[in-house]
Amino acid sequence: MTFEIVRHKQTPEQNLPKLEKVLVIGRGGRENALAWAFSQFNGIKKIYVAPGNGGTAKQNCCHCLNIEESNSSAIIKACKDLTIDLVVIGGEKPLASGLADKLRDAKLTVFGPGADGAQLEASKNWAKELMEEASIPTAHYWKATSEEDALSILNTVRKPLVVKADGLASGKGVTVCNSIEETKLAIQKVFTGKFGEAGSKIILEECLQGPEVSIFAISDGKSIEIMPPAQDHKRLLDGDKGPNTGGMGAYAPAKIINSEELKEIKEKILDPTLKALIRRNIDYRGVIYAGLMLTKDGPKVIEYNCRFGDPECQALMPLMDASLARVLQSAALGSLNRAPKLSVKPLISVCVIASTSGYPEKPKTGDLISIDLDQNNDLPVQLFHSGTKLNEQGNLITSGGRVLSIVAQGNNYEDAFKTVYKAVKLVNFNGIFYRYDIGYQVRSDDLNH
Ligand code: AMP
Ligand code: GLY
Repeated sequence: MTFEIVRHKQTPEQNLPKLEKVLVIGRGGRENALAWAFSQFNGIKKIYVAPGNGGTAKQNCCHCLNIEESNSSAIIKACKDLTIDLVVIGGEKPLASGLADKLRDAKLTVFGPGADGAQLEASKNWAKELMEEASIPTAHYWKATSEEDALSILNTVRKPLVVKADGLASGKGVTVCNSIEETKLAIQKVFTGKFGEAGSKIILEECLQGPEVSIFAISDGKSIEIMPPAQDHKRLLDGDKGPNTGGMGAYAPAKIINSEELKEIKEKILDPTLKALIRRNIDYRGVIYAGLMLTKDGPKVIEYNCRFGDPECQALMPLMDASLARVLQSAALGSLNRAPKLSVKPLISVCVIASTSGYPEKPKTGDLISIDLDQNNDLPVQLFHSGTKLNEQGNLITSGGRVLSIVAQGNNYEDAFKTVYKAVKLVNFNGIFYRYDIGYQVRSDDLNH
């Protein structure tokens, strides 16, 4: 199945400014995959990643800049010195703290929403109010600003609920509770101050059931382009067991939604989201990521994010053709209609995350990584680095919980999963861990390796 993005009219790229130098902000697998996608575009001569990781410099045309995402003045100076044509901001923290606004004030072309639009992710309460106003299907919710408030809501509802800290909590602020007692404990945990400012407000939600899917819409502030649906695997262990993580693997397209359903999701969820942002005078140029649950009453939003998903981005990038660079550039310029047609390769793409022992609680780092994977052969495999760095001797070592994203494509699910798991065996480090059942939703093999 191909999710071809249909445009009214194809306009020549010559209408767009030059695109030779790109800066990607971030240090994870998502940013590595974005840099790789830019390297597929012929016109781009240099791709900088700030701060990047141990794999960045090994990628074609890519260079690390030793600048933290929070250092906006150093980023602006580097952009001016290096004459950067496009900046792509990878993660939610710099977006929520207004990095895109500061760069735009300095007259740079930026893909990523300002702090106003990033509230979609940075405040669950803000996002819920927007959904309510725009009649976007989502879980029923209650908000509370004190433990007492929250417990009295629970007392009235008398059902296990999902407890969410309002602000950014690096994916750790959500507890899906199975009992009223567990809900009480989760409420108390948020108000212990564990999540800092993020936990000063709380959202209680009804618990939805159904498979989850991630939808990414590229917005230029006036219209959107939808990418193929992807499925993430948030739990650490096979069978969706164990603690929540940043994501242990993903695949796309996720055929649990067909193109008709995707169209309906655009009309009922993503278009109204953009309209509601416009009503708030927000010029949203970046990714609107809708995390959906496919319930028996139809798709409902469980969360928004203001950036590409990680690891979904690693699976999606190899499905894009080279025009993606121009599409992101034109979204950043506020005129998606100036971009060439973005088509999606008719392949299946899979990402498996190799993590360290101890992840997510206490990731062990500092171990040497060996990679036996020859990416120059014809295997449709990419290796994107997440938590890696080079030590003083120039050797690659683990530096974070999620270490490598191993990505492969195939003409069908069977081929893609076979290839990715063959490739996973060619990387190694002390305590390497990965899930064997990525894509269990669509796989027909017995998931044993
Ligand atoms: P989030 O950090 O908002 O992505 O939430 C983490 C995970 O919690 C989601 O991927 C879902 O699996 C789960 N979750 C969040 N909200 C709900 C809900 N209302 N009902 C059931 N599960 C939920
Ligand atoms: N893959 C989930 C996220 O990026 O939030």
